[in-house]
Amino acid sequence: MIIASVADFREAARRRLPRFLFEYMDGGSYGEVTLRKNAEDLAHLALRQRVLRDVSKIDMSTTLFGVKQALPVALAPVGLAGLNARRGECQAVRAANKADIPFTLSTVSACALPEVAAASAKPFWFQLYMIRDRAFMKDLLAQAVEAQCSALVFTVDMPVPGSRYRDYHTGLAGSGGMKGAAWRVAQAMVRPEWAWDVGVMGRPHHLGNVAPVLKGNTGIEDFFAWMRNNFDPGINWRDLDFIRSEWKGPLIIKGILDPEDAKEAAKMGADGIVVSNHGGRQLDGVLSSARALPPIADAVGDDLTVLADGGVRSGLDVVRMLALGAKGVLLGRAWSYALAAKGEAGVSKMLDIITAEMRVAMALTGCTDISQINRDILA
Ligand SMILES: Cc1cc2nc3c(=O)[nH]c(=O)nc-3n(C[C@H](O)[C@H](O)[C@H](O)COP(=O)(O)O)c2cc1C
Repeated sequence: MIIASVADFREAARRRLPRFLFEYMDGGSYGEVTLRKNAEDLAHLALRQRVLRDVSKIDMSTTLFGVKQALPVALAPVGLAGLNARRGECQAVRAANKADIPFTLSTVSACALPEVAAASAKPFWFQLYMIRDRAFMKDLLAQAVEAQCSALVFTVDMPVPGSRYRDYHTGLAGSGGMKGAAWRVAQAMVRPEWAWDVGVMGRPHHLGNVAPVLKGNTGIEDFFAWMRNNFDPGINWRDLDFIRSEWKGPLIIKGILDPEDAKEAAKMGADGIVVSNHGGRQLDGVLSSARALPPIADAVGDDLTVLADGGVRSGLDVVRMLALGAKGVLLGRAWSYALAAKGEAGVSKMLDIITAEMRVAMALTGCTDISQINRDILA
């Protein structure tokens, strides 16, 4: 199929992946109101067209946490995305390297941290959840230090998991045991290209970083059960001291949606935050990121670096997020769809599309570098 946009990558991913994987990635929690609002609120923000401003040279580079990068964009942590294509996170990190932007490896990736480090020519970001077993967290942090990760993204919006109805309908959640497994195998059999690429050639399948604590229980149900039982609902601001004692590099707190929490994060010495509702996968009915972002950016000013994600499906959306006050924008589903559709080449192409779209959006709003993008470009 012809691919010209992130929406096309989504359709290509839908055609290639077994249903349980596509719905897991595409879906949100409960009635999916926040999932839809994330994209709609952004897309409905009108841009101001400005003309006759000599836009022959446009500089999209920016510096985040002391590192210059080609675009104000990073690939968000997406759990299990590595199952979308063979050794998927290794393919995605290479595409991010080529585009000169950061890749973020999820705690719950398919490929383990050392494997991704070996595949990557540049430092990448590592995302960590709060897990009951502090020794396990320490071990992961030590691996991130060893791999010379350039930032730690500490995700705080999952003290308890939200319910995703689609996963019940595909056998990924709920109907554990043989019934769920048989249902998923049936879904994989009608996706032979994926089954060969990932199911057969993509082995071993042992859920990367979490494999040591799963102790040989490698089924997808074992993994979700581990998540339910081991994510720490006691997570609180004091835990940042623990993280800080193990991690000296840039610390980004992900999952902030309220100005008061943003101010607290700044007070606790975080270097950055990600304004995020986990892509509409946690508490449905909370504000979209586009609506939450402006008061947060105003509240913290330059005290820390504000990043944002949620519903970004084009370069125009990236520019809109920047206009609302973000210094950088994370892409979640966009890269996961592209990886599922065409592997590393797909992620590279998706980033080329985003870049081209950003260039047009900047040119026609009269911006020739990233620092000129602010609320004045919104109508
Ligand atoms: C399938 C899927 C898995 C995700 N897994 C993680 C994760 O492991 N850690 C995390 O911090 N965020 C995770 N997220 C949230 C993303 O990092 C990001 O906040 C979200 O995808 C942004 O919204 P977007 O997909 O609309 O761009 C996940 C999102 C999706 C879609």
